[in-house]
Amino acid sequence: MTKTRKILLITLGSICVLLAVAITFTIGWRPFIGPRKRALTDRHFESTPERLLRGRYLVQGLLGCETCHSPKQWSTHGAPSVPGMELAGQVLPVPGLPGTIVAPNITPDLETGAGNWTDDQIARSIREGIGHDDRTIFPMMPYGTYRKLSDDDTAAVVVFLRSLPPVHNALPKTQVKFPVNYLVRGAPEPVTEPVHAVNLNDAMERGKYLATLGCGCHSAVQKIPFGGGESLSGPWGATVTSANITQDPSGISYYDDALFIKTLRTGYVGARELSSIMPFGELQNLTDDDLKAMFTYLKTVPQVKHRVDNTLAATYCKICKQKHGAGDQN
Ligand code: HEC
Repeated sequence: MTKTRKILLITLGSICVLLAVAITFTIGWRPFIGPRKRALTDRHFESTPERLLRGRYLVQGLLGCETCHSPKQWSTHGAPSVPGMELAGQVLPVPGLPGTIVAPNITPDLETGAGNWTDDQIARSIREGIGHDDRTIFPMMPYGTYRKLSDDDTAAVVVFLRSLPPVHNALPKTQVKFPVNYLVRGAPEPVTEPVHAVNLNDAMERGKYLATLGCGCHSAVQKIPFGGGESLSGPWGATVTSANITQDPSGISYYDDALFIKTLRTGYVGARELSSIMPFGELQNLTDDDLKAMFTYLKTVPQVKHRVDNTLAATYCKICKQKHGAGDQN
């Protein structure tokens, strides 16, 4: 081997090693080798009156499935679903994203909905991010949050979805363009251990479960859980940023149980109207007890100093690295 060839080989080898290290510590290997996923099982969730009730409570209340899967009347405060189209799916434009995102029809229609999907296909989509067709589901569908849903509650959700009246609503398929279609392959993660139900008699434990599953948009900025900062643009009107719901003075330290419940039921904080992307139209279906438990838990989470005020003009915020109202005050 000549000296030049040796040098060339060593250089090439070093580049490969460097590239491998770079990939491992940045986007990981999933974009190239495909998402983590488990094989489907033939499990079946028996329909019981308890599961139907619990499933309705979760789907139409806490989990906010209709926010994305139902066409909404956005010009009405609280954005009720278009009657007769509940959970029949819709195209969801994402500003700046190349491609089309579609929240599918999850009513049991055989041709255009979930009528032919098995229980485990639906359960795996909800908690693990792999669709009925084995595809990586675009992580706008909050499966990273829903993976905390207990096995019992997952069964209840699937049983309830199966009980819906089928709605015939043909929609285009989701199409995410390069390179995002590869990058999202890192998001799915199988649920391989049982997810036990929390002790519903323990208000703090129940509150934590409810807040974790129901208040995801407020925890979208990883380093500041419940500190807000997710910018939300879409058909609901003005772009708004999720609020800080911790007890810091820049958050909701001035709330008490009554104000918390009233805000989540009405979408008004005093005279101030909340954007309908805050799903008070659905969270209003939670019981007083559950809303109180949610607030009891929120009062214990670490306080985050992060002022967000959607009534002010958007300015750069160094905490969440985005522009939002009162961003320059942080
Ligand atoms: C923030 C918006 C949003 C919410 C809330 C949401 N979804 Fe989705 N969901 C989506 C989108 C978008 C997709 C499709 C993504 C894709 O095609 O890659 C999806 C996909 C799915 C699928 C996968 C279908 C398939 O192709 O196999 C199921 C099932 C599903 N959602 C059920 C639910 C249920 C049940 C809830 C409530 C517990 C829920 N979703 C809440 C946006 C949402």
